[in-house]
Formats: sequence, C-alpha cells, structure tokens
Amino acid sequence: MANALRVGLAGLGTVGGSVVRLLAENAALIAARAGRPIELARVASRTPKAELDLGAASFSTDLASLPHGPVDVVVELIGGVEDAGALVEASLGAGRAVVTANKALLAERGEALFALAHAQGLPVGYEASVAGGIPIVEALRGGLAANRLDALAGIVNGTSNHILTAMENDGQDFAAALAEAQRLGYAEADPTFDVEGVDAAQKLAVLAALAFESGIDFAGVHVEGIAAIDIEDIRYARELGFVVKHLAMARRHADGVAARVHLALVPERVLLAKVSGVTNAILANGDAVGSTVHIGPGAGGMATASAVVADLVALARGHLPVPRPATRRLPALGVRGLVCPHYLKIPAIDQPGVFAEVAEVLSRHAISIEAVIQRPQAIRPDAEPWVPIVILTNDVAETVVEAAVAELGGLGGVTGTITRIRVADL
Ligand code: HSE
Repeated sequence: MANALRVGLAGLGTVGGSVVRLLAENAALIAARAGRPIELARVASRTPKAELDLGAASFSTDLASLPHGPVDVVVELIGGVEDAGALVEASLGAGRAVVTANKALLAERGEALFALAHAQGLPVGYEASVAGGIPIVEALRGGLAANRLDALAGIVNGTSNHILTAMENDGQDFAAALAEAQRLGYAEADPTFDVEGVDAAQKLAVLAALAFESGIDFAGVHVEGIAAIDIEDIRYARELGFVVKHLAMARRHADGVAARVHLALVPERVLLAKVSGVTNAILANGDAVGSTVHIGPGAGGMATASAVVADLVALARGHLPVPRPATRRLPALGVRGLVCPHYLKIPAIDQPGVFAEVAEVLSRHAISIEAVIQRPQAIRPDAEPWVPIVILTNDVAETVVEAAVAELGGLGGVTGTITRIRVADL
C-alpha cells in the first residue's frame, strides 16, 4: 500500500475526540477507501484528554508547532476565528493541506483563505463546517456541478431545531430543551451562537459562497434567533397548518444575494416541516435537476467526524480540490426587498371596536387577511381582559408590514408586543 497520509490534528473537543475514535475504529475500511492508511501522526490541544487513546500520535499543547512537524494535512478543530485563522494560514504557508470544521472562520475569512490556498495549490476540505454529517459541500460542488443554483433553504442549526421540536412535541420550555442539546454535545461552546442564529448564518454564508460562486458579505446576512418564540405561537401556527422552524435561506438576484436566518412558518406538508430534533436539511434548487433535499444529523461528535474523515479520504485519493478563488463579491441584500405572508399575534384589550381598529390599520396598508383566530384567554381576576388576535396575512412587503406593525403597536387597544413571523417562501 502507498505511504500513509499523515494527519496533524488540532483540537480535542467533541469533534476532535470523535475524529480520533473514528480513525481508529474504522481504520481498515478507511484505508481501503483512501487507497492508503490515514495515520494520526500528531495531535495538538491546549487541554490534554487523558481518556483518549491517541495511538502512536505525538501530543503537544503547542498548536503553532503543528504545521511544522512531519504532517501532510492539518485538521483544524479548535474553533473561533483568530487562533484558528492563524493556524490555517501557517499550515497553508508551510505547504500543508487543510481540513476544517470552522464555519465562523470560513464565513468571515473564507475568501482570503481560499485565495491563499489557491496560490499555494493546496486543497482545503470543509465538509464538516456545515450541517454536521450531511455531505452537502460535496453535493453542491460535485453532484450538482452541472446546475446553476439560485436558491438554498434549510435547517442548519441542530440545537435550535432540537429546542423547537421539544417545545412543540413535549411542551418542554426553552431552557430545558437547550440544556438537553448541550448535554448531548450539539451546542456551540457559546450556545447563544445557536439560539441567536449566528451559527446558522455562518453556515449559510459558507453554502451560498459555494453555490453562487461568489464572495458573500457575512455582515450583510439578516439574522434573527429563536428566543422570541412562545409555545402559544407554535400551537397557533399548527392550527393554521404550519410548523415553526428556524430557517436559513439564500436567493441569488441580479443585484446581490438575499441571505437571511429567522423563524418561519413552514407549511406542514413540506418536507422541511417534518425535520425534527438535531436533524438538519438543506434544500437546493438547480436549473437542471430541480429541487433537491439533503437531510441527516446536523451536529454531534461522530456525525461531524464523519465529514472530517470524508475530507481526509478524498485528500488521500487526490480528490480534494484546491479552492477556486471568488471572482466576484455579491452584495448581501438581507430582507429589505422581501415579499411574503406573515403571522401576526396582536395582544388586544377585549372590548368592542378593537378588532375593527386592527382591521382598519391593515386595510389602510393594503394588507389582505388570509385567516384569523381569536379565542378567549384565561385571565387573572385582577387583570384587564385581553385576547390575542392571530392573523395570517397574504403576501406583504417587508417595509409595509413593518410600518403596519409599528402603527398597530400604537393603538390604545393593543396591550403588548406584537409577534411577527414570516411565512417561508420555499
Ligand atoms: N452547534 C451546531 C448545531 C453544531 O447545533 O447545529 C455544529 O455546527
């Protein structure tokens, strides 16, 4: 058999530890598929993990020395942007191929790092950076290579989807569902990245750059998290025939890319609505193939290690490509030009004329109503009677609905914050 591919692994967190295990447990089949052994030669981590069997690999706490040792590829699994960016640059500078799971790094600096890798003629694998174990990078780059891709939509944060599913199916509250996702090893080191949508936005930027062959202005991605969701909204949405999901969506337009991450009502008949727990799913539309959906475990040590090792196998076979530098940069358009139906929940005083006032504001903004739910609410004896008025609108432009919601909030009969959730235009 040919010479082994010598791996230098940086980081022994959830994913790093799983890569060590996977390379050992499936060594024979990995070597057979790679055409040569994949050997863990060196490991660097700030924190040693005594419980992990590193086999013959040498260990160091000095991350910076890793690219300068006898390795063919550096696997960057330390996360974050600054230190990881320095390590990837040093690795490419030292003539090492790179495999990374770091979506934050790629979203913020991918263009520059890919240009460096291209200049050096070195492959970069980043399958593990998006949607855990789903081979979506390979699908977009390889299987869908014949297509012009204009739209992507998906559930790309397992933690958020786990929380929404637990709230819907088990009536679990937000905090308990998040704690469970953390215990299972799905959440980021800082879970606010999951629930505030940052993690999903980073993954969307990585996918959109690949699908649309363009640099993407990550700062221009519109990001909303899931914290505003109330179990009541999940139940009303069901009544209206929808499931509430946290979606990442990107669409290419002539003047840029509309990229956004936010809660959305997904029609319950659509496949994305049925994606539950930590599972991720990405819908990619190609002009030749039509609509494709890629589904699987989106987080977790072994699922993500599966993607890391797939890149190593491709590298060992000489199939991992050198990134092509972006030839253009498409402006991020966010949600300004968006037109879609909306779910509105308006807390209103339960007295004559309030509904008419609400309807009048909507009418004046030319917002057409598709469905309404208004049901008496259990109230405290000391409180003023109020009801949530739930309205599903027809298509309405973002700026129009914003103005209408601001006006509704100022009505004397409206008693609190109005909830607004867009309906997905898949
Ligand atoms: N924290 C991420 C998620 C997993 O919950 O999807 C790694 O990307």
